[in-house]
Amino acid sequence: MNYFDRMKVKFEALRDKKEVILASIESSCDETSVAIIKNGRQVLSNIVASQIEIHRRFGGVVPEVASRNHITAIANIFEEAVSAAGIQKEELDAIAVTYGAGLVGALLVGVNYAKALAYSLDIPLIAVSHVHGHIAANYISHPDLEPPFVCLMVSGGHTALLDICDYEEFKLLGTTVDDAAGEAFDKVARVLGLPYPGGPEIDKLAKQGKNCYKFTVSSSLKGTFNFSFSGIKTAVVNFVHNHNQKGEEFSPADIACSFQECVTEELTSKAIAACSFAGRDRLVVAGGVGANYRLKEKLEEGCKKEGIKFYAPVLKYCTDNAAMIGSAAYYMIKKGLGLADLTLTGKPNVSL
Ligand code: KG4
Ligand code: ZN
Repeated sequence: MNYFDRMKVKFEALRDKKEVILASIESSCDETSVAIIKNGRQVLSNIVASQIEIHRRFGGVVPEVASRNHITAIANIFEEAVSAAGIQKEELDAIAVTYGAGLVGALLVGVNYAKALAYSLDIPLIAVSHVHGHIAANYISHPDLEPPFVCLMVSGGHTALLDICDYEEFKLLGTTVDDAAGEAFDKVARVLGLPYPGGPEIDKLAKQGKNCYKFTVSSSLKGTFNFSFSGIKTAVVNFVHNHNQKGEEFSPADIACSFQECVTEELTSKAIAACSFAGRDRLVVAGGVGANYRLKEKLEEGCKKEGIKFYAPVLKYCTDNAAMIGSAAYYMIKKGLGLADLTLTGKPNVSL
């Protein structure tokens, strides 16, 4: 039997196996991460090597630099994760890897390393969508959480409202028609001269500001679950440029606060409306922007008013990490999904 035929048999056997231990790999952007995870929710280790300091001087992620740094880091991170988990490689049941969406050169490092590992250990390779990983970060953080629920997915690459009917069974309720929320946070931070990544910097600065500038989001998407953040981003950029050109003073903290209030209000009101539309009494936030203090506060308040239970991942599982990929992979295995052969490659875009 060739490798893939053997893997089909092993993969099928994992569906009924009581204890499944996975190694998962994430390298879609500027974090090299490997985790060892048991039964989808028990994190035995989760090592994250962030390249933030390396990319900061460029003001954003430089894809080629990201790929090179993943290459130098990945083997050591894998060894560290295995050793921190206190297991032997031979105990691994499968290798899971993010195959998209993300920077293709960065993804390829994780995918190729995962393929080599799976082949050499003679265990199945599971291809995981990064977005599915972000949703699964909540399963690690909340042992009681199970579908169905509504998920507000807010990252640097995605903004969407999803009805999670079951594990790996999603209905898209709405998405952004232009920029992702994280992208808007990062651009606004940049024009205010804040370091990369901008989202957490806006979050910090906004705490010292007032909501006194009346920035708005387009009203054309009212009544839908779609979002548009390109207009507010451009309004802030123009505001800053105009004031700078005229030598007029403004408060960056007030801009940060006003921008954040408007964006988080839009995300919150549509997320709550989506729960009522889908008939769900649980709302889950996922993705890097889910780390935003004000967004979490507003979602929590809004949910309380409507009798909805609100969940957010603990901070370390909110931004990119491999544990969330391992959790998603576990539920994919249990549903017979995701088995990949050795032709697997990185994909810059993956549909939700
Ligand atoms: O999920 P993530 O780590 O990577 C992607 O899959 O894109 O999200 C990164 C995004 C960046 O745009 C970053 O600025 C934003 O999440 N972010 C935040 C916060 N922490 C991270 N945005 C607002 N407030 C934060 N506290
Ligand atoms: Zn991410």
